[in-house]
Amino acid sequence: MDRSRGRGYNLLAMESQPGLDVLFTGGEIQAAVKKLAAEIREDYQGRQLLLVGVLKGSFVFLADLVRFLNIPLEIDFVWLSSYSRGRESSGRIEVVLPPRCQVKDRDVLVVEDIVDSGVTSAFLMEYLDKKKPASVRLCALTDKPSRRQVPVKIDYLGFTVPDKFLVGYGLDWDEKFRYLPDICVLEDEG
Ligand code: IMP
Ligand code: MG
Repeated sequence: MDRSRGRGYNLLAMESQPGLDVLFTGGEIQAAVKKLAAEIREDYQGRQLLLVGVLKGSFVFLADLVRFLNIPLEIDFVWLSSYSRGRESSGRIEVVLPPRCQVKDRDVLVVEDIVDSGVTSAFLMEYLDKKKPASVRLCALTDKPSRRQVPVKIDYLGFTVPDKFLVGYGLDWDEKFRYLPDICVLEDEG
């Protein structure tokens, strides 16, 4: 049961995943999320935060973030679909599930798993801004700047990551691997 870096990922449940390499361990992620939470807590002192998680990828990050934040806040979710073809985003975004909380006059913090092309985050920030929040900022666990097509301002960032396809800690490939406690690189087949 070796979970060290650079070795093939071995699940606790004995299921071997030879195509996965650990990029950030669960422990490293927890430390990064804790640091982000401290920064956010400091910046939002005395304000009533509304966290908006982007489904589905942000659900694990958001769950850890709110527990480290440990301040009064509200949580909502949005679900966007991006008509992607393989890895490439088409640039067309549809709001499948809009926020249910009122956004107007609120201090909104969007919580994203990853900013890749930037198309999704740029769309969402503009979409929320039209609802006249008191403020709207972006918190992303990971940023893949080498893939950017649209400029995006990330106010709170966990990790800058290489141009590799990542899974685990909420991130999926074809709905798989979201449950992994680490963030792993999914190696190309062949
Ligand atoms: P965008 O290209 O910045 O619009 O990212 C769109 C979405 O694609 C992200 O919110 C993720 O859900 C997904 N995505 C982008 N890169 C990865 C990755 O490396 N692993 C898993 N999902 C990804
Ligand atoms: Mg996402």
